[in-house]
This record gives sequence, structure tokens and C-alpha cells, in this order.
Amino acid sequence: MTTPAKPLPLFFALIIILLIPLISLLYNHFSVFTAIKFICRQTYKPPHAKENGLVKSSSEKDKSRLWRKTFIGFKNIDDSSSISRSISLNISECFPVELPSDAITPTHCCPSKPSFSKFLDFKDFASPSAKLRVRKPFHLLDEEDIAKFEKGIALMKALPDDDPRSFIQQAKVHCAYCNGAYHLSHPFQDTKFDIHRSWFFFPFHRWYIYFFERILGNLIGDPNFALPFWSWDSIEGMQMPTYFTNLNSSLYHKLRHQKHLPPHVVDLNYASNSNYVPSHKQVSYNLATMYKQMVLASTTELFMGSPFRLGDNPRPGPGSVEAAPHNTVHTWVGGAETPHHEDMGTFYTAARDPIFYGHHSNLDRMWAIWKTLGEGRRDYSDQDWLDSEFFFYDENANFVRVKVRDCIDTKNLGYVYQDVDLAWLRTPPTSRKSKLLRQTKKAQVRSWKPRKFPLVLDSITSVIVKRQKKLRSKEEKEEVEEVLVIEGIEFGSDKFVKFDIHVDDDEDRLSNPDETEFVGSFVNLYHGHGHKISTSFKVGISKVLENFEAEEDDDLLVTLVPKVGKGDVIIRSIKIEFIPK
Ligand code: C2O
Repeated sequence: MTTPAKPLPLFFALIIILLIPLISLLYNHFSVFTAIKFICRQTYKPPHAKENGLVKSSSEKDKSRLWRKTFIGFKNIDDSSSISRSISLNISECFPVELPSDAITPTHCCPSKPSFSKFLDFKDFASPSAKLRVRKPFHLLDEEDIAKFEKGIALMKALPDDDPRSFIQQAKVHCAYCNGAYHLSHPFQDTKFDIHRSWFFFPFHRWYIYFFERILGNLIGDPNFALPFWSWDSIEGMQMPTYFTNLNSSLYHKLRHQKHLPPHVVDLNYASNSNYVPSHKQVSYNLATMYKQMVLASTTELFMGSPFRLGDNPRPGPGSVEAAPHNTVHTWVGGAETPHHEDMGTFYTAARDPIFYGHHSNLDRMWAIWKTLGEGRRDYSDQDWLDSEFFFYDENANFVRVKVRDCIDTKNLGYVYQDVDLAWLRTPPTSRKSKLLRQTKKAQVRSWKPRKFPLVLDSITSVIVKRQKKLRSKEEKEEVEEVLVIEGIEFGSDKFVKFDIHVDDDEDRLSNPDETEFVGSFVNLYHGHGHKISTSFKVGISKVLENFEAEEDDDLLVTLVPKVGKGDVIIRSIKIEFIPK
């Protein structure tokens, strides 16, 4: 007997072939190639995804969402219509991360026991009547508090290495999300995901340390355990908390910069080759730095980082605090002798040092504080941000899916931060240059041959940047921030880079961090090898210009000062934008 021909698959194939040109006409970004790629990816499932059952577990709703994103999302690369371009990860595949060739801890950051087959959706919202956990600064912990934290970390370190709650597995979660182990669920674009340098910086790390806190609480049998924070922004907290340097403590970690142990004052503007500054000066530099990063960052984008949606180029640009003190403190703590300032100074190893969690607890606190500073400061309300999702292990080693929208109020997660005096709020930077000197310097640079873009940042570089608008009304200034945009900042991902940005300053006598002319710093930590990173950086300058009485000026004098990575950075353009608050 002959087997009957199978007309049905053939029929479908024919339909698809006929449909492709039709869809191409409808969607101008659509190509036959992408369609074929999509069909192949839908049909092919990686073998281990089948093994662990992920294929069966993804719900119909998720599938239809993927289709919607697929067919509509890619078309609207530039428009902000109601079509979702939120981020979700293809957790069925975890790829070996990008490590430096001289990695001191060559590690594969994927979870050792993937439990991808089932994940739970987060639903442990704190009830409004429940007692809130209060996260306290290290300098105000009592004996019992610190004993609990030390015990929790010790118990975590004692768990078998392959337990998802173990200290080492938790550290790997950070490495995996930072060094490209997961790729985005996007059929046409294979993008390695990195939670830094975009609007995901704050929400990702909030969720990450939230689960870390829950695991600690569970291990010590205290559901009210609250993760302490290292308040490097407060005068009392400007040294590495001494608990971390006690050789007998679970908080001790060897790979740290030995010259930065207490009582050395932290440098929130650290550049790995910074000169020593006397403690009292360093404190005032730090306070002014905090003021700039929190107060001058008056718009959501300036503080939170730039939007990153499905289909966008990754790493669009960090927010103020992510660049510094976040990156700078990482490097300041990390080892002086290790090639990439391991462990804290680079993301593949950073979370192996227990101080990471105290550092990020304070960064998370900065997000909570920033929103209370008024003048319209608020979170993004963009659905693509709110609906984006990540995965973590909870205290019962369950794999949990969370959404950005569920973490924007810490009370939802059952915790708040203890109030600590915000001395930086009363310490704005001061302006040093006289109006005359400012004008003279500008005239001098105007008379030079203009610098050609793209420019290689191999030495101190001054350029004149035109202002399209000036003398704005008070109302307009309340609603729109004038922003200096440094665009197309390009460098190899294996470079540690820091350059400072000065406005209307004097190249020959550059201002210090406690002066107004020093408006911010761009900082990049080692991020993998072999690829080029292109990102941007934005600094709010409305208040700076007001302070200078330079609001009538036609242009700005912008000086870029390379601190680390001289000659490694290319800048494509510098311009001024007006961003609504
Ligand atoms: Cu994800 Cu402080 O790093």
C-alpha cells in the first residue's frame, strides 16, 4: 500500500510563501529574510529547552504576546504607539558570558540547576497593614542587626554551590544579567541583555537585592530581616563600613583595594588614578557630587537612564547616579592589583564581594529619595518599562518572574529606608569663575580651529556648543530641562573609561568636583571583550547656567577631560536638547 501524500503541510507552506510579499508591502521594515528567520526560530527549540519542559510551560498568553511583539514591535522601531516593546528574556537558553581573557575567576555564570521548566509569577506583595522592614545604614546598626546580617551571609556561603540560594549562585545571577548570558525574546534580533546603562538599572537591582534579602531572612529564620545600606552619601558613611574588614567576619573579602580600607574616605568621583585628596576636602567633594547627581538630574531620563525597548540598540545611556557614585564606588572598592579591579570593580565578579549588597541597598535608597525631591520628579510611566520582566530565585529556590511595575514602590515589597541626614541637599556646588573670565575663555576657544567630529578623546578637549534657545521663561524652565547630550560615545567593551565633563570652565585651571563648572562624569566598567560599545550621556544644565548667569549666552564651552582610557574613546557629537520634566 502506498502512503498517501501529505497535502496539508505543503498547503500551509504555500500560504506562507504567498503571504510573505503581502506582509512585506504592509510593513516597511519587514523582509523575507527576517520572516524566514522567524519561522526557523519558532520551529527550532534548543534541545535543553525541550528537556526541561520550558516549551510546554510557556502559556498561550505569552505566546500570543510574543507574536504581537514580533509582528508589530519590530516595525515600530521609532514610534511610541501602544504596541508593547517591553523586554522579556529567552530564559530557555543561557549562554556562556563574555569574560576578559585575563579573567581571574573564569566562571560560567548560568545557573547550575536550571529550573526553567516552571516559573511562578511574583505575587508576594506586602499587605498594607503589615509591618514594614526598615533598612538601616551600617553606621546605625546595633549588635543584633549586624550579627543577623553576618550570620545570613555565612549561611548563604555554606549552602552547596549549586543551590540557587547560595552566595556564589546569587553572585552569578548578577554576572549573567550583566555580561550577556541571556538574550532577549526577539525573533529577529539576537540581543545579549545587559541591565546596565539604561532605564533598567534601578528596577533590576531593586528586585535582585530584594530576593537576596528574602533569602537571608529565611536562612536566619527572621522574615523581618532588612538588608543594611552603606550610606556613602552621608558624612558618617563615607568610609568602607568596618564590619567588612573584620577578618573573622563572613563580610570580609580579600580582593579589595588595600589602601581604601577605613579610615580612608571614599571618593565618589574615583578614577583609579585619582590623586589623594585630604579627607575634609574629599568629604566636601563627595557632598557636592551627590547634590549634582541627585538635584541636577531633574528629569526622569537624567536620573533613571535612557529608555531601552525591544528592537533598540542596547545600552542607550546610564542615568546620573549609575555613572557615579555607582560605577566609581565599584572601582574604588575593587582590587588595585587585579587586572579589572576585581572583584567589585567589574560586573562579572562584583557580587562575589558581600559589600556589593550594601552598596546596592544605598543605590536603591537613592532612587527612593530622588522621587521625594519634588519639582515633578517621578518614575517613568511608559508601559514598555512597566511591563518589562526579569527572573530570580526566591528563598524557596522557586524561579520567579517579576515585572518592573511591581517594584516601583518599596512598600509594595514590604520595606522602607531609615531616614539619614541628607547633608548633600544643603551642599550645592559653588561657582568659581568670574563672568569676565568665562567670556574670555569662550572667545579664546571660538577663535581656535573648530574640532572635527568624531573626535578621539586623547587629551583635554574643549568645544563650543550652540544653544538653540536662550532666556527661557520661568514656566518653561519648570517644565523643560536644558540638557547637554554627548552622543555616540564609542569604546571597546574591555575598557575602563572615565571622563569628566566641564561647562564654561578654564582648561588650564579646571574646577574641582565641588565647583559648578564640573557638571558630571561618564564612567564605564569592564564589560566583556571583543565588541564595540556605543552609548550616550546626558547632563542637566538649566541650574548650572542659572548659577553662572549665562542664560543669555549663545553658546556653551564644553570641556571633556579624559581621566582613564585616554585615546580609547571616540565622541560622535555634542549637542543641547530640551527634555520635558
Ligand atoms: Cu549591576 Cu553595581 O552593578
